[in-house]
Amino acid sequence: MTSDIRPCCDDEHAAIATIINAAAEKYRGVIPADCFHDPYMSDDALAADIAKDVVFWGSEDTGALVGVMGFQIVKNQPLIRHAYVRPTLQGRGIGSALLSFLIEKQKGPILVGTWADASWAIGFYQRHGFVLTARDETVRLLRTFWTVSERQIETSVVLRR
Ligand SMILES: CC(C)(COP(=O)(O)OP(=O)(O)OC[C@H]1O[C@@H](n2cnc3c(N)ncnc32)[C@H](O)[C@@H]1OP(=O)(O)O)[C@@H](O)C(=O)NCCC(=O)NCCS
Repeated sequence: MTSDIRPCCDDEHAAIATIINAAAEKYRGVIPADCFHDPYMSDDALAADIAKDVVFWGSEDTGALVGVMGFQIVKNQPLIRHAYVRPTLQGRGIGSALLSFLIEKQKGPILVGTWADASWAIGFYQRHGFVLTARDETVRLLRTFWTVSERQIETSVVLRR
């Protein structure tokens, strides 16, 4: 599948949220119930992340966003944040293209966090050269570069490339 990768626009917050919330349905019944919210990402939470300089890149196909991936630099550390592809279009290389695009822009290490139970996401990142960090390192990285609850720290993993 060929699609264009471009930064998302200021008027695309609703489209970003729609993709995130549709794709995040994959977590339902898989990650701990108390970690799944409905919607998974509220408009306010998305706006708060964008205000904290999470830059969303989008994959566009025939005029519509089909996938989004956030990128944020925290304390000089590049992070991949919120990687989601429209459910009907997953498994066609859109996520890989977005991830490769963001990886290519970086010279140093990149971190990504995900739910420990999201085995497919962990495998996706591993196939792109990311390696799971040890538990004590995961906790340190989450406390240093993310703003997450202790519960989310307990239930998350961090991978480094
Ligand atoms: C994880 C996610 C972002 C990956 O995006 P994607 O577009 O589905 O990923 P890709 O299609 O690039 O790769 C997924 C698989 O499809 C395969 N694939 C890639 N291009 C393909 C193509 N043209 N045709 C068929 N399969 C293809 C890849 O080999 C890959 O298989 P692998 O995981 O066994 O290596 C997406 O599946 C998603 O939104 N999942 C739900 C939410 C989620 O878990 N997000 C991660 C948050 S951290």
